[in-house]
Amino acid sequence: MNAQVNTPKHVAIIMDGNGRWATARGLSRAEGHRKGAEAARQVVETAKELGIPYLTLFAFSSENWNRPEDEVSDLMDLLRYYLKKETAELHKSGARILIIGDRERLPIDIVKLIDNAETLTRDNEKITVVLALSYGGRQDILFAAKELAKQARAGEIDLDTVNEDIFSQYLMTRGIPDPDLMIRTSGESRISNFLMWQLAYAELYFTDTLWPDFLKKDMEKAIDYFNSRERRYGGLSQMHEMQG
Ligand code: FPP
Repeated sequence: MNAQVNTPKHVAIIMDGNGRWATARGLSRAEGHRKGAEAARQVVETAKELGIPYLTLFAFSSENWNRPEDEVSDLMDLLRYYLKKETAELHKSGARILIIGDRERLPIDIVKLIDNAETLTRDNEKITVVLALSYGGRQDILFAAKELAKQARAGEIDLDTVNEDIFSQYLMTRGIPDPDLMIRTSGESRISNFLMWQLAYAELYFTDTLWPDFLKKDMEKAIDYFNSRERRYGGLSQMHEMQG
């Protein structure tokens, strides 16, 4: 990795390609997701080592509910397992866990695991790991707009004072800086309803590597890409920030 490192403050990842990874090996899709969860664990570790303060992982999208019942159930099982097993480890290593997404659609026992993970780790400062679960970017914006409208109707907020900063505070990511780097694996170059508002100025990095194969060196390559983009703007970086 490049010596002169300008570490991103927030890396957001669409972990894509578990299914194709498994199919190529004659394995079940569930096996691919299991391997994907292992890759996720490694990436959290790498992000911590690299000093990245915020890492968001798109673990289950609002569209993923439309997958076959069996696969949704396998993914929920994996989430249960991951949350039970990883929470203590993440806590020990100083990670704070936050969850964004529509909790109402998640099974109640998973909501409890999420609540526990957030409460247990809330004072940790080494890294913040945000899991996007049952998350959709448009939904996030829609919920925020509705909440804002409700408060305006109740006379609690004056709409004329609402600017982008205030609106951001109504999103599920309130208090979390916008991602400056978004990574998507497996060759797809779409945002797929991920952090629609928050990614407005992010560098986008797409790689053909399938998610289960995404290792430390791949993360470092993505950070190098980020650095090369930053360097391109050189002395103009201030302006880059202003213009996006
Ligand atoms: C995309 O692969 C991945 C998902 C739908 C789920 C992501 C979940 C994990 C990586 C495991 C859980 C991780 C955590 C952190 C709890 P895909 O099935 O769309 O792959 P395909 O496009 O090849 O079919």
